[in-house]
Amino acid sequence: MDLQLEGKVALVTGGSRGIGLAIGHSLAAEGVKVVVAARTQSDVDQAAQEIEAQHGAQTLGVVADVKSAEDVERAVESSASAFGGVDILVSNAGVPGGIGFGPLETLDDSLVLMDIETKFLGALRAARAVAPHMKKNGWGRIIGVIGLSARYSSRYPSERNPEGAFNYSGGPRNLAVAHLMRTLSHELGDAGVTANAVLPGATMTEDLAAMIDRRAKATGQDPAELRRLAASGNAIGRWVESSEVADVVTFVASPRAASISGEVIAASGGAGMGVFT
Ligand SMILES: NC(=O)c1ccc[n+]([C@@H]2O[C@H](COP(=O)([O-])OP(=O)(O)OC[C@H]3O[C@@H](n4cnc5c(N)ncnc54)[C@H](OP(=O)(O)O)[C@@H]3O)[C@@H](O)[C@H]2O)c1
Repeated sequence: MDLQLEGKVALVTGGSRGIGLAIGHSLAAEGVKVVVAARTQSDVDQAAQEIEAQHGAQTLGVVADVKSAEDVERAVESSASAFGGVDILVSNAGVPGGIGFGPLETLDDSLVLMDIETKFLGALRAARAVAPHMKKNGWGRIIGVIGLSARYSSRYPSERNPEGAFNYSGGPRNLAVAHLMRTLSHELGDAGVTANAVLPGATMTEDLAAMIDRRAKATGQDPAELRRLAASGNAIGRWVESSEVADVVTFVASPRAASISGEVIAASGGAGMGVFT
């Protein structure tokens, strides 16, 4: 299938590593010009160079913290002046798993707010900044990368919370992005713009692989067993690869996905036993 993406321009927030970097690669492989945005100059430069070298695509690295409206606007302006506009926005920036963990009594409101500011307001600001470009062209794709915590309350161990604390911000921020995509799909639908959320499950990235290895070393557990446990409950019995999430994003970003808008599309490996979850 020709995805008809050749020549489009994509801005990927959180594009310097993990799922965002995989999305950059996948889009570039289809002939898309990719703008990589994240907070660390050396990482965005490296990611942009890596994508360019592997796919011969035109790329640009921009430093932007999505918690800052100014940064987001600057990233969109830089994309527009380098490549003439923004056709595809992938709002992916965020800390995997979230940062606002219980117990309830000691939950830090400022962490909950920071998580929502990053993912929800970051996605809202970026959508607001790209909308005029998409409206002008009569075409656009807006995609928010959310996560399983939009569906389930969660309690899982992490480096920050080895005991497994309840997660009070990961779900709300992700649900808010799903809701935002639905609203955008209606407001911008007449202009040829679709807006969708893509929901990865436990997804293997460089950072998560390293974290599992560190935990295995610290606890003497088998890293393969830790990975199996972390993916338990999904249908495919393993972590989803970031390139597999990127494939789904790339299809949704394409003209071929014109009939999909306002939806939440899971790339979770079939997580959970429910039919509608
Ligand atoms: N990995 C999973 O299992 C999984 C599952 C479901 C959903 N997700 C979601 O997928 C997205 C990517 O996750 P990941 O695992 O690929 O994360 P990652 O490897 O930690 O990468 C996160 C990316 O976001 C950037 N970033 C973080 N905060 C930012 C900010 N305030 N402004 C701009 N850029 C920012 C990071 O670069 P800098 O730090 O340099 O800014 C980096 O490029 C997240 O939204 C996460 O919630 C991940």
